[in-house]
Amino acid sequence: MHSLISLSVFWLLPLAVMLEEEAPLACVPRRHVSYHRDNAVLFREEGVFNYSTMLLREDLGLLVLGAREAVFALDISDISKKHASVKWEVTEQQVNECTNKGKDPETECKNYIRILHAMNNGKIFVCGTNAFDPLCDYLSYADKKLTFARTAEDGKGKCPFDPFQRYASIMVDDQLYSATSMNFLGSEPILIRSSPASVSSSPGSIRTEFKSSWLNEPNFVSMVQMPESEQSEVGDDDKVYLFFSETAVECDCFNKLVVSRVARVCKGDVGGRRTLQKKWTSFLKTRMDCPVLHSQLPYLIQDSYRWCDPMQHWEKCIFYAIFTPQSDTSDLSAVCAYRVSDIGKVFSEGKYKSPVTVETSFVKWVMYSGEVPEPRPGACISNEDRKAGIQSLDLPDRTLQFVKDRPLMDQPIQPMDGKPVLMRKGAAFTRIIVNQVQAADREMYHVMFIGTEEGTLLRAVNYDGEMFIIEEVELFKPPEPIKSLKFSNVTRQLYAGSNFGVAQIPLATCGRSLSCIDCVLARDPYCGWSVADGKCVFLSSSQGNIIQSVKEGNASLCPPPDPIEPVIRFFWPGSNLKLSCNSPSNLAQIIWERDNIQITSSPSLQYLQDGLLILNASINDAGHYRCLSVESSKANNYTTTVAEYRVSKDPGDFNKILLPQARTDGPSVAGLKAAVALLVISLFVLLAWNFYKGHLPLRWCCMKKNGEQPQYTRDQVALNCDMTEQDAQRPSQAENKPLMSAAPNSSSNNNHAGGAVSGSDENSAPKINLTSLQYIDDESQI
Ligand SMILES: *[C@@H]1O[C@H](CO)[C@@H](O)[C@H](O)[C@H]1NC(C)=O
Ligand SMILES: *[C@@H]1O[C@H](CO)[C@@H](O)[C@H](O)[C@H]1NC(C)=O
Repeated sequence: MHSLISLSVFWLLPLAVMLEEEAPLACVPRRHVSYHRDNAVLFREEGVFNYSTMLLREDLGLLVLGAREAVFALDISDISKKHASVKWEVTEQQVNECTNKGKDPETECKNYIRILHAMNNGKIFVCGTNAFDPLCDYLSYADKKLTFARTAEDGKGKCPFDPFQRYASIMVDDQLYSATSMNFLGSEPILIRSSPASVSSSPGSIRTEFKSSWLNEPNFVSMVQMPESEQSEVGDDDKVYLFFSETAVECDCFNKLVVSRVARVCKGDVGGRRTLQKKWTSFLKTRMDCPVLHSQLPYLIQDSYRWCDPMQHWEKCIFYAIFTPQSDTSDLSAVCAYRVSDIGKVFSEGKYKSPVTVETSFVKWVMYSGEVPEPRPGACISNEDRKAGIQSLDLPDRTLQFVKDRPLMDQPIQPMDGKPVLMRKGAAFTRIIVNQVQAADREMYHVMFIGTEEGTLLRAVNYDGEMFIIEEVELFKPPEPIKSLKFSNVTRQLYAGSNFGVAQIPLATCGRSLSCIDCVLARDPYCGWSVADGKCVFLSSSQGNIIQSVKEGNASLCPPPDPIEPVIRFFWPGSNLKLSCNSPSNLAQIIWERDNIQITSSPSLQYLQDGLLILNASINDAGHYRCLSVESSKANNYTTTVAEYRVSKDPGDFNKILLPQARTDGPSVAGLKAAVALLVISLFVLLAWNFYKGHLPLRWCCMKKNGEQPQYTRDQVALNCDMTEQDAQRPSQAENKPLMSAAPNSSSNNNHAGGAVSGSDENSAPKINLTSLQYIDDESQI
């Protein structure tokens, strides 16, 4: 009971306040782009998996890619071009040792490349899990070759043992900051700064205290550096931020509660002299909230991205982070954005939490309201300290003991505007990148690129509080979770890694919008309609008159669209007919009209997601059909004609046999069967006619003489292919009946709902008819 109350006070109170505000719970991508090989440039190598570590080397024109037991150097402009690759496999002995410790030889006892960082000397620092015995080395690239230095440097604390365990690392001035597990069991988490062995002037490694109040079963997510010493009046130090989730020590709930965290350390930290010797004296952390409506348990951080405007002070930088639920009851993912300055303020001015023992052995974490020692615990060394001759080694024990016992701040970090910038139901978010773009209105917009568990990439923007997902693109087939996402400012391309391969994607593919209205309603800040070219174009690549309206979606400036050529369609009474209509937008409403009157969905006329289904068609169903897509934007409602059909009763008789058979059996076999049937029948008719006319010559002779007869059959079919209305009356009744009975397959086909519907569906049907006609032509000449 006690735990329940504290849980509700801890979590539900702020959420209850949030609930008052009604916000759309989830956002649907306006466009879904199914897998197509042109969606992205792909790289994968046969037999190599787990392409999850990437390093952009714009200086070398390379994307360096770490996979399982291999490193690749790909052309950064076209990753399908491989410049070099090198293997790093585990030895048989290592596999045996790993297997003896109870690990799986096929998955765990391999070398997964986990760390790739550029060093100041141009080399690449690389580490791998190395069959649960992490190892690091140096790679150099020259003459289209990747070469290992073979230094076999111990990777403990730098690289995880377990390939399935999450970790984070960055390299700053040849110092490696890594957050991972120190031991084989994965039970000793650390954040450590160490120098690769090749770096000569090493200040020695600094690490976290092994205490649950510092790191409590953490799941490390990402790490970033902030240049906070820049133009700092107080002489502040640069910081390294670590994002992770962990079991909350401060929640005295019955069940374990996991929360999201941000921690930070100062770059100049060298540890204490007696207290916190070789440990961080500046390690502070706090909770990060991303309040999602209706959620009882806090959402957990999965990735973060530091967005900074190069023209502005670092205080204007924003951390974008993605969150997913910790229970399986929801499939909602969210993006929250945090001001770096808000985070900094909590650490530099906020209150601390402090453990208090209540009753006998129960520890409760409460806000510390006692006296805080000077210099402030966890603060970086400032100008004032420097003047007093203090570096972190000289910090007084009181300050160090305080931060050693109380690394947790009282106040959590709240996102900008107190709510997510994006929410979406569906495949969980896995990675995020944010890019700023100046749209045609001269304003700057932040476009979020989000990888998902199902191998799709979302492109989304928050327009003044309105969440908008421009599109979702399938990058991998079969779907594979996106494990890493990078953006190159030089190539303006994105790179997404998965277990099966890597994809290279441009910032936008404007050509997906085929009309001006679609281009404008897509509200993609990268794309606009070029009036001169009559195309949806990438903004920066085009000058001149561009129509774009990202905030309003105002498409009224668009020139009137070209009229659509109606497609002619026939039905056979009693059969089903499907008219396709694929709206360019998931946000549009589809309306069907027949002879300008709106059709309401009924059992015999069904609205489908991708068309209209006419069941048991009758003469009354003939008419002019139009599929309209009605999309609302802030500015207006826009109606566009997506498809038009002229539907009438099947004029011909041959179609009855030819169409359904051709569809199910394939043109050649079905056509052949039909042709043979036709031939037999025409022979009979011919024979009968000849008998009737009193000619009784030999059969072959008759064929030759009456060239008209085969000719007549041929013309008849040919006329049906043209399918004009007058043709409906042409064929004689006499021919009709035997033809019907000669096609038993056609009626059984109608039992297959799908087959029957699509049987008369395709425009290509007349083409199929024509190929079967060829057979008739050929056989009649035998
Ligand atoms: C590596 O890829 C394989 C094949 O897709 C996958 O089953 C496995 O889980 C991946 N391993 C890791 C550690 O991600
Ligand atoms: C990206 O490149 C552009 C020019 O190509 C430059 O103006 C901008 O500062 C760069 N941004 C970053 C974050 O490096």
